[in-house]
Amino acid sequence: MYSDKVMDHFRNPRNMGEIDDASGIGTVGNAKCGDIMRVYLKIENDIIEDAKFKTFGCGAAVATSSIATELVKGKTINEALQITNKAVMEALDGLPPEKVHCSCLAEEALQAALWDYAIKNNIQITGLKPPA
Ligand code: FES
Ligand code: FES
Repeated sequence: MYSDKVMDHFRNPRNMGEIDDASGIGTVGNAKCGDIMRVYLKIENDIIEDAKFKTFGCGAAVATSSIATELVKGKTINEALQITNKAVMEALDGLPPEKVHCSCLAEEALQAALWDYAIKNNIQITGLKPPA
């Protein structure tokens, strides 16, 4: 039921941990299952230099956080905004229908971290919505 990529990122999550001097931190929770995902971003000159995550959640949530932090590294803020839950799922070669909401968590956590960065630096990021 899970793709090889999902299993790989679940068994060997990339970028697990924290960034001490993170530029932005986003924490989101999924009301459906109670799972929590936190994403740390290190941003310099508009580039996401580093990304890490901590997820207390299902295997799919771990896999989506892992791939989302991989996808976002090296991207500009604008490019990071294009990392939707759909992009996360595609990068994992799909998720079972009942696990789609876990990828929403990854998109929301990334955006929440960008929002935190924007607030801390008093800048506006076009197209970024405040966290729900
Ligand atoms: Fe639950 Fe998107 S996080 S539907
Ligand atoms: Fe909770 Fe996947 S079941 S995030």
